[in-house]
Formats: sequence, C-alpha cells, structure tokens
Amino acid sequence: MIVFQEENQIFHLKTSRFSYVMQALENRLLVHRYFGKRVERFSESHQIIYQDRAFSPNPTSKDRTFSLDTLPLEYSSNGLGDFRTSAIEVRSDFGTLLDLKYQKHRIFQGKKVLDGLPASFGDEEDVETLEIDLYDEVTGVIVTLSYSVFEEANYLARSAKIKAGKHQVHLEKALSLTLDFPHKDFDVHTLTGRYGYEKEWTRTPLTQGKYSIGSIRGASSHSRTPFMALTSPDVTEDDGEIYAAQLVYSGNFTAFAETTALQTTRLGIGIDDTKFNWVLEAGQSFQTPEALITYTPHGLTELTQQSHCFIHQHLMRGKWAYKARPILINNWEATYFRFTEKKIEKLAGLAAKAGVELFVLDDGWFGKRNSDTCSLGDWVENRDKLPSGLKGLSQIVNRLGMSFGLWFEPEMVSEDSDLYRAHPEWAIRTTGYGNTYSREQLVLDLSQKAVQDYIIESVSKVLDSASISYVKWDMNRNITNIPETLANHHRHEFYHRYMLGLYRVLETLTQQYPEVLFESCAGGGGRNDLGLLYYMPQAWASDNTDAIGRLSIQEGTSLMFPSISMGAHVSAVPNHQTGRVTPLATRGNVAMLGNLGYELDLTTLSEKKLEEISQQVATYKTIRETVQFGRFYRLTKRDNTHAYTYVNEDKSQVVFTFVKVLSQPEAPLITVKLKGLDEKAQYYCEALNATFAGDELMNIGLVMPYVQKDYFSVQYVFNKI
Ligand code: DGJ
Repeated sequence: MIVFQEENQIFHLKTSRFSYVMQALENRLLVHRYFGKRVERFSESHQIIYQDRAFSPNPTSKDRTFSLDTLPLEYSSNGLGDFRTSAIEVRSDFGTLLDLKYQKHRIFQGKKVLDGLPASFGDEEDVETLEIDLYDEVTGVIVTLSYSVFEEANYLARSAKIKAGKHQVHLEKALSLTLDFPHKDFDVHTLTGRYGYEKEWTRTPLTQGKYSIGSIRGASSHSRTPFMALTSPDVTEDDGEIYAAQLVYSGNFTAFAETTALQTTRLGIGIDDTKFNWVLEAGQSFQTPEALITYTPHGLTELTQQSHCFIHQHLMRGKWAYKARPILINNWEATYFRFTEKKIEKLAGLAAKAGVELFVLDDGWFGKRNSDTCSLGDWVENRDKLPSGLKGLSQIVNRLGMSFGLWFEPEMVSEDSDLYRAHPEWAIRTTGYGNTYSREQLVLDLSQKAVQDYIIESVSKVLDSASISYVKWDMNRNITNIPETLANHHRHEFYHRYMLGLYRVLETLTQQYPEVLFESCAGGGGRNDLGLLYYMPQAWASDNTDAIGRLSIQEGTSLMFPSISMGAHVSAVPNHQTGRVTPLATRGNVAMLGNLGYELDLTTLSEKKLEEISQQVATYKTIRETVQFGRFYRLTKRDNTHAYTYVNEDKSQVVFTFVKVLSQPEAPLITVKLKGLDEKAQYYCEALNATFAGDELMNIGLVMPYVQKDYFSVQYVFNKI
C-alpha cells in the first residue's frame, strides 16, 4: 500500500511487515525518514533534529543547522555538502553538481517493465508503484525514482531513471539505491568466495568506515554476489532484525555499508561506478538495474523464506518456474572431452535404468573441440564424435525414456575457430596491446548487434536441429581489454552495453524456446545472480562437486536463492576437485538438497553402487516437490554439523538431512530440533520405522546416531499419517 500524506508531504510505503517512509521537505529536498517494522501511521515521533554540526556545510548562510551532510537522504549527490558515498554523479558543461529537488509524483497499480533489463514483475493485485521525479534546475536533469511495493510478498523494488535536459550530460555513477539508517549497530552479511568455493556466507560487525564488495570482472563473479544484508548484531535464525538488498544484475556492481562520524549508516547497491560512464545526449535517459529490498524482524530463516518465495513468484519466469525439475545426468566429469557416441549411449542407458530423466551432453560436441583450446563459436556438431549427429543422439536418448540437453558457451570464441578467422573484430580486444587470454579463449563483443544476432541464430539453429529440452549456458572467463571501437568518451559504457546485449540475446532465446529448461553456469557459480535467474530458472551452483565442499556453498546459496534454482550433482570419488572420498549415501543426501543430478561415469560402477543410485533416484522422486517447492530451515550453526529441513506447503512431508563432517573421539551426542512441522500431526519415518508427533520432533528433537566415521549423513523423510 502506498499512502501520500499531503499535509506533511510524506510518502508511506507499507508491506505486510515493513514501512518505508520518505518526505519532501519544505525546500523540496527528498529525505528518508524510516525503514523498518510496519507502523500504521508515521506521525514523526522520530523527528529530524536540526543541529549546527562542525564542518557540515550549509546551503544558506542564515541557517547553520541545515546540512546535506547530516540529513538522511533518499538519492544523494556529492559536492553540495553530503560527504558520504553518493548515489549519483554527473559531469556536464555546468560542472559536476546536482541539486535534486522533489518535483512531482505518480502512484499506480502494477509495475512497469524495465527497458532491456531483467526485473521483478507482478500483476495489479500484487504490486503498486510510486514514481517520484527529482529535478536539477541548472542541468535540467530529471531523476525518476521508482518504488514498487509488493505488499503480500514483503518486498520493495527500487530503481532510478536519469533523463538529460536540454544539454549533454556524462553520467558517471547511478546506483540503484542508497538507504540511510539512523544508527550503525549492525552486522554486515555478504556472500563471497572464489572459484569452487562460491557463496561463502560471511558476517562482520560494522565498524567505523566502509565495508564494500563488488566486481569489475564484467560478471557478478564467483567471489562476490550482488547482495548485502544489515542485521542486528544478535540476529539468529529465529530472531533479530534484517534489512537486505539484492541487485537484479549480472555485471559489474558495488554494494557497500558506510558509517559516518555521527554514527549513522548508508547502505548502497548498484552498477560499479569505477568502470562506468554513460553519455546522455539532450533528452536521453538511462535506466539503472533494479534493486530489491526486504525486511524482517524475525531472523534469518524468515529472510530466506521471504526471498525464496519472492524470487520464485516475482522474478523467475516461464513455465519452468513452477515445474518440477528433471533428475539429470551430465557427462562432463564422466568423460570430459573424451567421449564417443557409443560411450554416451552406454552412459545414458545405465542412467535411464536408474530412473534418471534427462541426459545432458556437456562440452566437446561441436567443431573440432577435443580440448578447451579451440572451436568456441563454431556451433556445428562434430560428426566424427557423433556419427548420428545431435538429432540421432537425441533420438537414442529419447528412446531410452529420457529427454536430451546440451551445453553451450555462446558468449565466447576460441582463436582457433572458424568464427574467429571470419570475424576477428567480433572478439573483445584492444588493438596494439595484444589479446589477454583465459582458458585460451576470448569473449565476444555482445555490445555489437551483429554478434548478438549471430549467437541467437547459431544457438537457434542447433536447438531446431534436434530434440533438445534443456540448455546449459556456460561462461568461462571474465572481460579484459575493452575495445577501442567505442569513441573515447563512450568507452566506459562498454560493460553495461555488454550486459544489455546479453539480456537481449537471453530474452529472445528464452521467449523463442519456452519449453526449454535453461540452466546458467559460469565455471560453476561465476554469474549466479538474480539478473540471470530472471531468464534461466536454474543455476549450476559450483564446479566443486565434493559433498563436503558443497555444504557451505549450498548453505550460502540457500540464504537468498530458492532451492529450485540450484543444480546439485553426485560425482565420483576421489572427488575431482578436492580428492576427498565420501560415501555415496552422503553424496546423494547433499545433492538431494537441490535439484538432483549425477555427473560420473556409471559404466565404471559396480551393480551394488548402481542399485544404490537407483534407490536415491527413486527416493528423490518422492521428495522432489517438497525440496523444490517447500520451505527451507537451517537447523545447526554450521561448524562440524549441518542439518536442514524442507517442509512442503501443507506440512504433510518433511525432509530432514544431517551431515557430520569429521568424526571426533568421545564425541558429544548431537540433538537436532526440527522446524516448520505441524505440531499436532503424527509423522511416520520409514528409515526409523517410528511415528512421532510434530511437537515432539520440534521441541525435544532427534538424537543423531553415534557413528565413528568421517562424512557421515542421514536423510529422514517424515510423512504425516
Ligand atoms: C565449466 C562448467 O562449470 C563445467 O560444468 C563444464 O561445463 C565445463 N565448463 C565445460 O567446459
């Protein structure tokens, strides 16, 4: 709900749980007044205290108590007194200042689409929007701040559109949001890491100064996720206040929390400004990506569940958002580049026998690609390896009762490729400096329409040529050597132009092939963000397939990303990334926390192991709806033990998973209390051959088996009787 209180020019945005309040002051400055637990009316109990503060500049010599430096601002610029990190910076013939003042506003049901960008959506009953125009008299720049309130879902979507007046303006920075808080008593939560170790959940007390994360890799990256949350320092899974911001974007970004001398905090998120510049000719506009914010007073589990629900209902598109995901087998770790059609057929045959539903042919099916040194860009089947072609192979797989999926890496080109030989100018490179390689490949310049069209055409041609129901869209290097093809003053537009090009390609292909399930990948989780999730409702969380390595990756992912978006595979031992040997049961139990898949050479396994895999597949089919659409609870503090429950909508099924990483001498017994059950219901667990009441499982809990083994795990499924 959006309320405008005319008498004091207050905008009060309400969701089911929070209030977000702004005010246009008498001098038309838009200030931020409150964000937190919902109140029915904002009557200014929390007043603005005007106070003369040393070294805080004043816009008028008559009033030393008024300063941009000390006020909570809604969308600030530097140069007129605010010394905190700004939301917007411009350069024009008039200098670098902007004095943005409230001009007018509009309130309407529903939400507009963001031109060329992924963004949340909802119909008129779900969402109401407020647009506020801010105006700078000198440059004529208009900044339209957009606030879309998802009342039920408890989310606010914010973005800004910057329009030049009668003069050219260089936009040097345009964040999606800044948010000012009146204190600094927070912990900062981020999801950071590295290749093979993505989405490590870090928590740091906010102290004096600035805590920031970001990426200038041309992708959100393995090491940083476009997300930041501020929580009360004592936040737990069940209690404590949380303010979280996520960016719906896949390129360079920044997210920061900055404290001030006066002990206030500014949170900001948006496109990274160090490698950004956008030239706006008279009358032209720039649209920032969307930032999503949410609040809960009830701890981390509620944050997770709110985020999962919102992303599922208002960000993931297409029929796959609500469709149970197939159990797949991928041949990458089974064969790498060394496969033949016969080998694939054998692998697919065993997978089909085990009940697997989708076969995914990974890298190496095209051009003359027998290693990662060539052929990217040449999306033509390799008949030497696949005598029946993709069409024939997909038919073989279909006859086995499985659907067929295919790997692509369409944004890339190998120097040793027909595409590069024909179009070297399509690769991102700077003449005079030589190329910079990563995995021996170059990135295609997706800012060029011809390149976008080539990708759309070549991928479509393959998809039309065979029965392909799934695409793994990979991306295995970051951007360097941005080209000199853009005029000098436009050069820093490149990274964003690349993203707009990529989004155009993804929009076209996903609309053209609505039946195809697209899974994004970037050497694992190198671009696992909400921008891509909008187009592709599944993401390969990490190349690290080790069950123990996966625990922290999956747990970090679980904080904000729904389980239905997370691909998780059982792989061989010793694990190819860590060398660790874990039991097949534990590999299965951990992979079943996401969308189950297999990625190992079944042809080398014993009958007994194949039977165990068939059992896992059969079990997953009985719990899949609960895992993919249920509510998720983290039950332990993530040290040596990890425990989780998934509970389905009507609480009739509960999937409980426990993993103990290392065995210890004389280890204490571990009791885990389940969450989210119907306390009055009786639940039967086949593995324990016992029935328990929901309240008993939640209040007394289960004692875990005492086992002297590393990497021990259990999975208990409780069904309501
Ligand atoms: C990186 C991906 O993350 C892997 O799963 C695999 O698809 C390889 N690329 C193939 O080159």
